[in-house]
Amino acid sequence: MKQLIATAIFFIGVPVFVVSSCAQSPVNTFPDRQWWKEAVVYQIYPRSFKDSDGDGIGDLQGIISKLDYLKSLGIDVVWLNPIYESPNDDNGYDISDYRNIMKDFGTMEDFDALLKGMHQRHIKLVMDLVVNHTSDEHDWFKQSKSSRNNAYRNYYHWWNAEKGTPAYRWSFFDVQHDAWKFDTATNAYYLHYFSRKQPDLNWENPQVRKEVHDIMKFWADKGIDGFRMDAFQFVAKDTTFPPLPQGYEKNIIQYYGMAPGLHDYIKEMYSEVFSKYPLMTVAEGSGSTFEDAHNLVDPERHELNMAYPFEGIDLASDPKGYSLLTFKKVFSRWDSAFARKGWLSIFLANHDNARMVSRYGNDTPAFREASSKMLTTFLMTMRGTPYYYNGDELGMINIKFSSINDYRDVQTINGYKNVKDNGGDTLQYLALQQYASRDNARTPFQWDATANAGFTSGRPWINVNPDYTNVNESAQTNDPNSVLNYFRKAVALRKRNPVLVYGKYTLLEKNNPAVYAYTREGGGKKILVVLNFTAQPATVKTGISTGGAKILLCNYSIPSKDSQLRPYEAIVYQLKY
Ligand code: GLC
Repeated sequence: MKQLIATAIFFIGVPVFVVSSCAQSPVNTFPDRQWWKEAVVYQIYPRSFKDSDGDGIGDLQGIISKLDYLKSLGIDVVWLNPIYESPNDDNGYDISDYRNIMKDFGTMEDFDALLKGMHQRHIKLVMDLVVNHTSDEHDWFKQSKSSRNNAYRNYYHWWNAEKGTPAYRWSFFDVQHDAWKFDTATNAYYLHYFSRKQPDLNWENPQVRKEVHDIMKFWADKGIDGFRMDAFQFVAKDTTFPPLPQGYEKNIIQYYGMAPGLHDYIKEMYSEVFSKYPLMTVAEGSGSTFEDAHNLVDPERHELNMAYPFEGIDLASDPKGYSLLTFKKVFSRWDSAFARKGWLSIFLANHDNARMVSRYGNDTPAFREASSKMLTTFLMTMRGTPYYYNGDELGMINIKFSSINDYRDVQTINGYKNVKDNGGDTLQYLALQQYASRDNARTPFQWDATANAGFTSGRPWINVNPDYTNVNESAQTNDPNSVLNYFRKAVALRKRNPVLVYGKYTLLEKNNPAVYAYTREGGGKKILVVLNFTAQPATVKTGISTGGAKILLCNYSIPSKDSQLRPYEAIVYQLKY
């Protein structure tokens, strides 16, 4: 029912979208069309997008001042990282009040104006829902830790010390990677999968779930359009906390989350919230098997709209590079697992990973532009809802800080302390962070060539990438061949061609180590995509004739002919059908 409402409202609210796709192929050609399948999502990291008041921190008024820019991209949805009240241990992922706006970011009036401005431009807003944990400064936790008898005690996971030391649990951000923190006030340990300032909520407590539903309704009543559910696979865990078997770290999700209760929690959320509002819903992660992922998004189960699988983003975590053959295998496998039922997101970057072009492409001056455009071509021509991270449309690259003092991310800073405390090699650690730290993706958006890239008139909370004089929005917007204008073209191409959203995907030349080639077919169209993922010329032999084909997009001014591709060349053909 919810999906029908969502579709209807969208059709009324945003006729452009439907009209343009209908003109190309009849609405009924593809089954189960949904606005959130056809949308392009643009992720904004608010702290780094645009500062309006000179305090060096991006804010809501800053985003408001860039609404026309967002519109010019052609995107449909903005996913905003958390903007709620927070002491900022993890840049807003530690929430102390879910119904207020972080002071650094502005006020609730600013939020209302932002939402209105987006809706006036037919852009939808998806908010981050961070409810695996709260901040330790949230009132619930303050109450919970005050006494064993407090009414909020059971909102969190406590282990009384007289039972002995709890079985080890690994923490993502803790300096010692220990997820249990002893608290003297009540002689007990509390659980925190992330930092010590992010205690995990106890989802087995129905009162906690009710509080979360009320928070969701508060925002849904304001008219927001969806939720991205942060770290959600961790909410359901085995709360007997048994010792873990050897090798558990190879499948951390299986042991740390995805406990059977998870689906019940989501179904309950569906009946309490999702069934009552036209919301787009996406989980962060997708469990540890295809079955887990399917169970989250199978429309008949009434849970979520789409999953956000990590396999593709994880395969580029080694600075030595990744294998294109593996990349093709992973994306093809996920595509085929969801070809008939369920839905996925598709992405190569976000605020938790370094820059797309630095990880998957080539960020040297010679190839930064071509490889950024090639990767954009990939994202906009695959099945799944594309999630595109702010700044990637300019081809922004890793900043590669050399001193720990330049970093702001709790993960990098506490990781450094861990290496140091344990006598490890801090220089090696810093070298790895130049490739991997999340702060690489969190430097300020580069608007123009003025001081601080036009991001702030004050001192930015994190350094601006010095390449901003060369890489910035203002220079690119006027250049028809820029990375930015290529992104706009690629988005528009996807919006004009529902075959790129829904069409059958067929991998070609599976064993070609340099070229990713595939077709998308359906609704009376067949599209061929060829992508050279390397800095050398490459040959592609798909066996498909491109004679008479129309070239829809290419990242070189004159596309190559005869199966030879230049470095990072990307060509999208509409084949004769
Ligand atoms: C998610 C967020 C990440 C955050 C973590 C803890 O993975 O994407 O930024 O640090 O959850 O909330």
